[in-house]
Amino acid sequence: MARALQIAPSILSADFGRLGEQVRDAEAAGADAISLDVMDGHYVPPITFGADVIAAVRRSTSLPLEAHLMVSNPEAHIEPLVAAGVDTILLHVETAIHLHKLVQEIRALGARPGVTLNPATPLSTLDAILPLVDQVQIMSVNPGWGGQAFIESALERIASTRERLDTIGSQAVLEVDGGVNASTISAVAAAGADLVVAGSAVFNDRESVEEAMARLRSAAVGG
Ligand code: DX5
Repeated sequence: MARALQIAPSILSADFGRLGEQVRDAEAAGADAISLDVMDGHYVPPITFGADVIAAVRRSTSLPLEAHLMVSNPEAHIEPLVAAGVDTILLHVETAIHLHKLVQEIRALGARPGVTLNPATPLSTLDAILPLVDQVQIMSVNPGWGGQAFIESALERIASTRERLDTIGSQAVLEVDGGVNASTISAVAAAGADLVVAGSAVFNDRESVEEAMARLRSAAVGG
């Protein structure tokens, strides 16, 4: 029986002036986790937030927290983020020179290690690490900003990664991040995703978080 698609709202598009309230709204609306886009202004141009803000988010919700590290030096952020209460850390394969070592370090600290990769990074870069991670994220936008258009070629990458995970018998969660909204979520689910990140589709000025989450849930099953 296929697992129901899970949704992790990304606070990247939330109102940072009332972040705790927005996180609580997302939890009340049935979010399965909260996605935290950690950006250092170097790996990607924007700067977002680090461990201190994440510790505040931790105090606002009991949901699992996942940190997407869009930073040039992921090794410097792992311990502080786990200490701040992050449950899952997603490393970009393009930035982690010692990827195997960092995955082991995350697991040794009691968190779930995951990997993510940019839209043009070959899927073959996942081969050696796939059996060792608990989550694989396929980027369907170029990292750095919310509200971008879904990159259609990601659908084949999602399906191919789904096949790869099934072939090796991995129970890793297959996640998709970027441009997931009511128009794209059903195709993402059909391609084999277990979990989606949704930022601007959840936090926007068109509708409440509750309405946005309900719209996504309905669209995910073709409603
Ligand atoms: C890009 C970010 C975004 C964000 C989701 O670096 O990772 O993908 O989480 O943003 P939306 O859902 O608005 O595309």
